[in-house]
Amino acid sequence: MQAPDVSHLRPFAPTVRGLTEPDHVRDAMRAAGPLVRAETPAGGPAWIVTDPALARRVLTDSRLVKDPAFAPPRWDPVTAGLEATAADQPSLTTLDGSEHGALRKAHAPLLSMRRMEAWSGRVHAIARRLLAELAEGEPVVDLMAGFTTRYPLTVLLDLLGIPLDLVDRAVDGCRRMFSTEPGGQAAAIGALAELAAAGLGGDADGFAAELRERVPEGTTPQQLHYHLFGLIFAGQLTTDASLGFHVARLLGPDPVETAGLAEATLRDHPPAPYTLWRYTADDVELGGVPIPARSPVLVDIQGVNAVPGSGPDLTFGAGPHFCVGARLAVLELNAVAAVLAADHPKARLDGPYGELRVSGIGGIQGRRLDALPVRLRG
Ligand code: HEM
Repeated sequence: MQAPDVSHLRPFAPTVRGLTEPDHVRDAMRAAGPLVRAETPAGGPAWIVTDPALARRVLTDSRLVKDPAFAPPRWDPVTAGLEATAADQPSLTTLDGSEHGALRKAHAPLLSMRRMEAWSGRVHAIARRLLAELAEGEPVVDLMAGFTTRYPLTVLLDLLGIPLDLVDRAVDGCRRMFSTEPGGQAAAIGALAELAAAGLGGDADGFAAELRERVPEGTTPQQLHYHLFGLIFAGQLTTDASLGFHVARLLGPDPVETAGLAEATLRDHPPAPYTLWRYTADDVELGGVPIPARSPVLVDIQGVNAVPGSGPDLTFGAGPHFCVGARLAVLELNAVAAVLAADHPKARLDGPYGELRVSGIGGIQGRRLDALPVRLRG
C-alpha cells in the first residue's frame, strides 16, 4: 500500500490568512488518509501522520529517530534547517534512547510542576512590569512587536540566571535564527549560546548553573551552552506565537472564561503545528505503508488536535520527547491573563478580531499573528 500523495495541497508552503479563516489543508490531508506523503521544501517526500492513534504510536516508536544523521542523503542541511548530527551536537532534540533519557533526567526537575509553582510569582511580576511599561507609552501598542518576544525571553533569562540587561541581545538572536543570509543561522546560534554562558559565571545560581551540575559526565562546556541555547530558542519561538492568539482571545469581542483558555488556545493554534522531524532508521512499515530507511516522518499536531474526540491534544507532543517546557509555557500564558485582568481591566483590541492576520514562513514552522494592536488603557 502507498500513502496518498498530498503534495498538491502544499502543506509546507508559506501562508497568510485571516485569524478566523479555517485551514482547509489540514482537513484535506486527514481526509486523504491516516498517513500521507508530500514533497518537502528540501526535496523528496515526507510522510505525515494525520490519524490520532497512529500519531501516538509514532511518537513512542523507537524505529523513528531524531538524529539528523538519518535525514535523507539528498537533503542540504541548510535548506532543510537541520540541526547538527547527534555525534556533532548531542541534544534533547537529536538524541534518542538512553542518552536522551539521561539528558531528560538532568532537565526535567528544573522545569517540573513544583518548580514552576515556586517560580509563578516571578513570572507574574515580569508580565506585570513589561505590560505596565507599555501602558505608559503610546495609546495603541503592537504586542507582537513589543511584548510577545520580550516577555518569554525575560522569563527564560531570569529562570536561567542570565542578567536581564542581555534581553535585547536575546531578542535580536532569536529574530536572526530565521536569517536567510549564508551562515546567518549559525551566527545566531553562536550568539544565543554565548549569551546562555552568562548564566554560568562564578556566582550564578540559576537554572543554567544547576543544569551544569546535573548533565551527564563528560558534557563539554560547548555542549552545555547548546543545551541552554535550545531552551531559550524552543521556549521563545513557541510561547511568542501562542501569546498572540491567547491575548487576542482574551481581549476579543466574545466573553471568555480564562480558566482553561490557555490550553484551548494552544489546542486550536499549536505553535508547533508539526512535530520536529523524525527519520526512519531502517526500512519500516507504518500503518500498513512501507517506508524506506532515512525517510522523514512528521505528525500533523494541528490536524490531530482538530479531530473531535481524539483524546488529549498533541500540542506539546507525546512520548519521550514530550516538551520539557510545557508547564512553563502554560504558566506564562496564564500569568498574562491574570495581569491583564488585574492591572489593565479596560484593555481591548484596537480593531476587529476578524481582521487580525496570521502568517507562517512555511516548512514545519508555526504561524504567528502579524500584529496585535491593543489599547491597554482602554
Ligand atoms: C506553547 C509553548 C510550547 C509548545 C507548544 C511546545 C511544543 C513542543 C513540542 C510539540 C515538542 C516535541 C517535539 C517533537 O516531539 O518532535 C517540544 C519539545 C521541546 N520543547 Fe517545547 N513547546 C513549548 C514551549 C517550550 C518552552 C517554554 C521550552 C523551554 C523552557 C521548551 C523546550 C522544549 C525542548 C527542549 C524540547 C525537546 C524535548 C525533547 O526532545 O526531549 N518548549 N515542544
